[in-house]
Amino acid sequence: MEIVCVTGAGGYVASWVVKELLAKGYFVHGTVRNPADEKKNGHLKKLKHAEEKLHLFKADMLDYASLCTAMDGCTGVVHIATPVPAGKVADPQAEMLEPAITGTRNVMNACLKTKVKKVVVVSSVLAIVANPSWPKNQVTDENRWSDVEFCMKNDKWYSAAKAISEREALEFGKKNNLKVVTVCPSVVFGPMLQSTICTTNIILLNLFKGENSLNLIEFDNAQDDIYIPIVDVRDCANALLLAYEKPEADGRYLCSSHVLKMKALVELLKSLFPHYIYPTDFPALDEKLNYTCEKMVNLGWNYMSLEKTLVDSVETFQKNGLLS
Ligand SMILES: NC(=O)c1ccc[n+]([C@@H]2O[C@H](COP(=O)([O-])OP(=O)(O)OC[C@H]3O[C@@H](n4cnc5c(N)ncnc54)[C@H](OP(=O)(O)O)[C@@H]3O)[C@@H](O)[C@H]2O)c1
Repeated sequence: MEIVCVTGAGGYVASWVVKELLAKGYFVHGTVRNPADEKKNGHLKKLKHAEEKLHLFKADMLDYASLCTAMDGCTGVVHIATPVPAGKVADPQAEMLEPAITGTRNVMNACLKTKVKKVVVVSSVLAIVANPSWPKNQVTDENRWSDVEFCMKNDKWYSAAKAISEREALEFGKKNNLKVVTVCPSVVFGPMLQSTICTTNIILLNLFKGENSLNLIEFDNAQDDIYIPIVDVRDCANALLLAYEKPEADGRYLCSSHVLKMKALVELLKSLFPHYIYPTDFPALDEKLNYTCEKMVNLGWNYMSLEKTLVDSVETFQKNGLLS
């Protein structure tokens, strides 16, 4: 069975990708910044088949040589590692743009050097939506790109980083005859395999404590009753595997299962878990939003109910002592 390299293997989304790859019989080269860090990466070693099939490599995205070592012998790469900050950072160029863009360039060059055949790059819905000139009534699909100039002028550094690195990866693939597919997940919720909590699960967890912290990620009007597009982490991992395995997968994919207003999300949570305290203040916003993930579905993708995602999320928060 072939070997697939997963960058940032210990992270929230990546851990599920590693789990699914191992379950399907692949050998996995996972890159992590410190393989000895049990708190961050110990869960990977406990995955089924990890002992025989998972090899962790110490690699930083800014260290090209370490990536070449990890990718040596691999047929494919799923590139996931990127800084996902919870809120504003002191130096966004150094802390977000540089690692995301240079990191993706290094991954692409390492793929050429090690003769990798296919790369799936994880981008984001934020590489799509930060574009105020997109016509209000037009459906949001893979043709929409965040406007990088607008992002940089408006402190949307994560959105800019994702859009620039995704576009460059696609162009690199065309120029160098390397098969590159990009997947843009929306807000990822669902159970965690790792014990350290990621940014989007902080947002979900805070809702059970009466706090709306959607402003930790770069959505416009994050404190208002905006639409929030959601995908389950397991469905996201499946989408990445489909993008990797399907020979017909091509270009860019928007990956989002459910879109609902923040107030509606809180109402749903209240009906499922009535004993928590929820935020109440979501100023109304006249907003129209229409997403389509038809391209992803046409690749064979399907997804679970939002209720299941939320119930399983709460179970993992409780298991990890994050919620009583
Ligand atoms: N969660 C979401 O809602 C969501 C939505 C859309 C797209 N995405 C994308 O999905 C991917 C994973 O996000 P996540 O939510 O799973 O976040 P996460 O748990 O924070 O994972 C990010 C991973 O990237 C690694 N990383 C960051 N900078 C690195 C560097 N310079 N060198 C090596 N590794 C580095 C982190 O390693 P350390 O632990 O060592 O920092 C971590 O393993 C990202 O590309 C993100 O943009 C996430």
